[in-house]
Amino acid sequence: MCGIVGYVGARPAIAVVNEGLRRLEYRGYDSAGVALIDGDVVITEKRAGKLANLEEAVTARGGLTGPTTGIGHTRWATHGQPNDRNAHPHVSVDGRTAVIHNGIIENFVQLRGELEAEGIEFSSDTDTECVAHLLSAELRRTDDLAEAMRVVCRRLQGAFTLLAVDAAHPDVVVGARRNSPLVAGIGDGEYFLASDVAAFISHTRSAVELGQDQVVTIDASGLTITDFDGDPAEGKPFDVDWDASAAEKDGYEYFMLKEIEEQPRAVADTLRGRFTVGGEITLDEVRMSDQDFRDVDKVFIVACGTSYHAGMVAKYAIEHWVRLPCEVELASEFRYRDPVLDRSTLVIVISQSGETMDTLMALRHAKNQKARILAITNTVGSTIPRESDAVLYTRAGIEVAVASTKAFLTQLVACYLVGLHLASVRGIKYADEVAAVLTELATVPDMIQKVLGEMEPVRLLARHMENADRALFIGRHVGFPIALEGALKLKELAYMHAEGFAAGELKHGPISLIDDGTPVVVVVPSPRGRSLLHDKVVSNIQEVKARGATVIAIAEEGDVVVPPHVDHTVFLPRVSTLLAPLLTAVPMQVFACELAAAKGHDIDQPRNLAKSVTVE
Ligand code: F6R
Repeated sequence: MCGIVGYVGARPAIAVVNEGLRRLEYRGYDSAGVALIDGDVVITEKRAGKLANLEEAVTARGGLTGPTTGIGHTRWATHGQPNDRNAHPHVSVDGRTAVIHNGIIENFVQLRGELEAEGIEFSSDTDTECVAHLLSAELRRTDDLAEAMRVVCRRLQGAFTLLAVDAAHPDVVVGARRNSPLVAGIGDGEYFLASDVAAFISHTRSAVELGQDQVVTIDASGLTITDFDGDPAEGKPFDVDWDASAAEKDGYEYFMLKEIEEQPRAVADTLRGRFTVGGEITLDEVRMSDQDFRDVDKVFIVACGTSYHAGMVAKYAIEHWVRLPCEVELASEFRYRDPVLDRSTLVIVISQSGETMDTLMALRHAKNQKARILAITNTVGSTIPRESDAVLYTRAGIEVAVASTKAFLTQLVACYLVGLHLASVRGIKYADEVAAVLTELATVPDMIQKVLGEMEPVRLLARHMENADRALFIGRHVGFPIALEGALKLKELAYMHAEGFAAGELKHGPISLIDDGTPVVVVVPSPRGRSLLHDKVVSNIQEVKARGATVIAIAEEGDVVVPPHVDHTVFLPRVSTLLAPLLTAVPMQVFACELAAAKGHDIDQPRNLAKSVTVE
């Protein structure tokens, strides 16, 4: 949420900053802006709307290619409308200090009041602008940008990553972070600061992750880190293990299409080397003993959005394999209802970005209650895994499209592995079933590949529905979270009213939504084994059909019962019930993507959304 980038080096800063912003645009795209140091002058340019508007404005000013120090911002609005005025950077009244910010400054009303009482006139509605004025006031006292930043940060409450430049300090960018991500990149005689390594990956893979409450200075001499009190501090160095091409579309029209196609590889990577034939699972970071895992008497899964849907699937798997009570909760609700937690509670937090503020706050609440935390995340070095007791990384690779696809499938895989890990550590004797699941999991990438090869009818269906204004999704058991996920994808991409329901709940109210032609997508369980579940879903299909619905069934190949009752059937390969979401999610993604494309929407950057939601 909001992308920020800073550069000090020998190249034109505008080129580096713009490229960084392009790679970070997925984090927010309401407006964008830059501040460049030209001699002893700060030049700023900012524009509402997509980055292209900013680039146009910069070109109109001759390209601004002279300065070699600069900062840039792409915004997801929190305070103030997304217009030119509220776009970052924000500049002090004397025009010398420019600031960009990701996060929310919670005490900004009080700070703004104080500054206004001193006679400062604000030129935006943002919480960020007060930082520019506070820094400028502090600089009149200290003339040291890093020290000014430390003093100001000590006064701020909330979540923030800040970058600042000042006309009196050419060739210096100072950054600070609390509860919001900031990484530094170390190049050859050049240095970068950014919300995410994607911003500088084409220049260097050598990175340093800044810790909580740290201030960093980049200048010609390198990188200096202190805490907010000025004591020397260290970041966490790491090498980025993917290259710039991972953040390119590679010939696909949208990142989302590329990421959907990458799913077999992402799932295979997430499985690779993680289990032995005997069913022993390897976690990436474990600061818990096997005994701690054995002491667990209750599991909570906490996450948001698509990650929450992965958690819902995990509940079915964990309760079945581990025989432990498992609750799934929206992270934004978790800490406000006073959940009962203690040392023997395991809280599994699922977050692609590893930075989602709702999830992070839920994690901290659970930690304060002494619960153990196991994180499933895609972003190495992000805050959530750093604060957890155990971590299993999904290896989806960078996910750029705002709508999550490959991260979701890899979260499912990670959840299955965690379930199997808990089962094996706790000595639950389902040896045959565990071995069978692992064998089957290993074949899933090929199955997903097969599904992807057979998606043309789904695309056709989506194009036919271009003018539909609503759709319902229903499913039972693990099909229910997939129905929710299908509806979420359609809402976020096609801006359509779409709802997911547990199929059995329809008759308790939502069925009155159905009239002639209402599209209903049904996730049908396998007719094998758990045929009771299948029978019930077939009954639900008949109920909606009788009321005029147009039914699209996602069913297992060989299911001969369903097709006569529905308008369209999408067949998927046979897979066991608990693993089925790894396949049933795929047509949902393709359907939403194609329908949104038919409506002419921006697939990778749907309106009002951001990839990494770092505010509560
Ligand atoms: C939807 C989507 C979001 C995220 C949610 C949590 O396609 O991507 O619903 O799943 O914002 O994000 P993470 O997983 O980064 O915590």
